[in-house]
Amino acid sequence: MAERGRSWDFKSVAPDPDAVGTPAVELNPDVPHIARIYDYWLGGKDNYAADRAVAEQAIAAMPSMTASVRTNRAFLSRAVNYLAAEAGIRQFLDIGTGLPSADNTHEVAQRAAPSSRIVYVDKDPIVLVHARALLTTTAEGRTAYLSGDVREPAAILAKAADTLDFRRPVALMLVAIMHCVPDTDDPYGVVATLSAALPAGSFLVLSHPAHDVNPSTGAGAAAARMNQMMPEKVTMRSRAEVTRFFDGWELLEPGVVPATQWRTDDPAPTALWAGVGRKPADG
Ligand SMILES: C[S@@+](CC[C@H](N)C(=O)[O-])C[C@H]1O[C@@H](n2cnc3c(N)ncnc32)[C@H](O)[C@@H]1O
Repeated sequence: MAERGRSWDFKSVAPDPDAVGTPAVELNPDVPHIARIYDYWLGGKDNYAADRAVAEQAIAAMPSMTASVRTNRAFLSRAVNYLAAEAGIRQFLDIGTGLPSADNTHEVAQRAAPSSRIVYVDKDPIVLVHARALLTTTAEGRTAYLSGDVREPAAILAKAADTLDFRRPVALMLVAIMHCVPDTDDPYGVVATLSAALPAGSFLVLSHPAHDVNPSTGAGAAAARMNQMMPEKVTMRSRAEVTRFFDGWELLEPGVVPATQWRTDDPAPTALWAGVGRKPADG
């Protein structure tokens, strides 16, 4: 029997009525899921014993894991704030949303620019259960949640068009998700399809866990332990492999760097590469 951090039965929670295109929510507490493992690392309560077991094994291999995932959230927040406050972006397509945490994309974007529109997409049903928390919005802006798989980019683009105007610039957010797409599922083709749908002046925000940011962190060993315990495997990629996701985009300064070095200088340990690209006129 899986324990939970809350007193109600999670499996009986009805799907959010505002959620789009999603049938009944079926959660399997015995199978570890990356969204719930990540929630545990971030100090959340929306995880089961099976998730915590994997999360703890990863921490045993990489003691700085919880600090590292926080550097990813901080990067997300800095990047969104830059786009909304300085680059004039008002539309965000955030794929691989994760469970609501501090400073979700719509909160950061709408703080800087209240008219911002955000479409969240995740394939894990547990995120759908929490969709309401992601759907708060300013009166001027809008948020939507889609249940979808990044490996089906055309379907995501079609549904997101109900909220986003793809004739105007969009920030495509692929923050700590592409490691969930193995090489056999064509991760570069997926990003290319999404990119092709966006007009010039759009942005790509991407971070990715890696073994070569700082090899002494134990990130590679943590991923290996996770892959022994999880049915859905993670794929660590090198800096060169992460940079390849930005093919066709102009990388903003300072390029693909440790998440703690993207427009800040944070001494925290990180195991993620991060970057932001802008789509050129001829991209
Ligand atoms: C590590 S969390 C990152 C959450 C958030 N983007 C962040 O950086 O804080 C990865 C998220 O991607 C989602 N995910 C994994 N594979 C996916 C796929 N094929 N399609 C859509 N979402 C996926 C997981 O369910 C999880 O919520």
